[in-house]
Amino acid sequence: MKILVTGGLGYIGSHTVVALQNKGFDVVIIDNLSNSSLDVLAGITEITGKSPDFEKIDMRQKEDVISFFEKHKDINGVIHFAASKAVGESVNKPLAYYENNLGTLTTLLQELQKIASAPLIFSSSCTVYGQADKLPITESAPIKPAESPYGNTKKVGEQIIEDTCNAYPNFSAIALRYFNPIGAHSSALIGELPIGVPQNLVPFITQTAIGKRAELSVFGDDYPTQDGTCIRDYIHVMDLAEAHVVALERLLNKKSEDNYEVFNIGTGTGNSVLEVINAFESANQKSLNYKIAERRKGDVIAAYADTTKSKTVLGWTPKYSLQNALKSAWKWELALSKKE
Ligand code: NAD
Ligand code: WQD
Repeated sequence: MKILVTGGLGYIGSHTVVALQNKGFDVVIIDNLSNSSLDVLAGITEITGKSPDFEKIDMRQKEDVISFFEKHKDINGVIHFAASKAVGESVNKPLAYYENNLGTLTTLLQELQKIASAPLIFSSSCTVYGQADKLPITESAPIKPAESPYGNTKKVGEQIIEDTCNAYPNFSAIALRYFNPIGAHSSALIGELPIGVPQNLVPFITQTAIGKRAELSVFGDDYPTQDGTCIRDYIHVMDLAEAHVVALERLLNKKSEDNYEVFNIGTGTGNSVLEVINAFESANQKSLNYKIAERRKGDVIAAYADTTKSKTVLGWTPKYSLQNALKSAWKWELALSKKE
């Protein structure tokens, strides 16, 4: 079975390629290296003992995507990670985000209609729920107006895929709504590569612990939560990678009656920012320099998944703990510092 992984050299994509190859799938990666590097290919190869095929293609170049599919007529399934993901940047560059996240999606969907049997997995996000009215969040929770152009690309991306599934009954797709992916492969050969100052909590924690950043700012301690800081559902990237394999197998084995499905991918447990800091300190025996700062604009108070559907229907359960994920994140930061 040959699987196309777009954005397969990125953070979640690279871990998913490892999980796919470990399961015996042949993988071909498309990536334009806009937020990744060729070193990742070497890391994947070292971990799995197998080098995936790689084509450096910018998916905004429609002709290049068409030529790719003419060359690879034997693709059995696609996992589409390629996108831009910086929420703040998307506010200043909305058109670039709509082009890169939605333009590439419609190009891909058009090509997939020529291969009737190749299903699609789409990287969506819990951002589509905004501040949910009820916790934990089920897949049937209302989709809220997006807080950013980035968030809107996930909301509209899901709609585009659902409309396509309705129009083409032989086509099938699954949207996975990720909660907060963290951590790295246990080998520390691949991990997250934040460019510039990290916007996400865990890379900021590890960069502070290693001394690249002077101090972590905890954005707000006056929220209506048990310790006043925001609550999220942090999921180990290896568990998330495994969820893609399970979802892909569901599509390839035609296990569902619906040709479009949505699943939450989280642990089901919410942790506050202070709990994450404490877990990092105890997992790694490392104290962290942090201060309480102003709230960050646009942050929701609390978001964590109801995982009933992903457990019972998809048959996927996360294996790793928060501590485990934070240990792997720290090991990755240490490995990165040796390379620099
Ligand atoms: P990432 O930036 O590490 O990976 C994306 C990859 O896609 C990169 O390697 C980049 O070079 C590539 N890419 C971007 N535009 C491209 C284009 N036009 N053509 C070819 N390649 C292109 O991001 P990630 O964290 O691995 O996220 C993967 C997907 O998951 C994205 O769609 C993202 O929106 C979504 N997602 C991420 C998170 C998160 O917190 N990381 C949460 C929810 C959803
Ligand atoms: C987590 C918590 C912050 C940094 C974002 C996107 C979302 C999704 C995942 C793609 C929050 C706090 C953070 C720091 C802090 N991506 N924090 N100090 O905001 O849940 O989600 O990434 O789809 O769309 O919005 O994740 O890691 O940025 O923040 O206190 O320096 O950590 O306020 O409570 P978030 P995050």
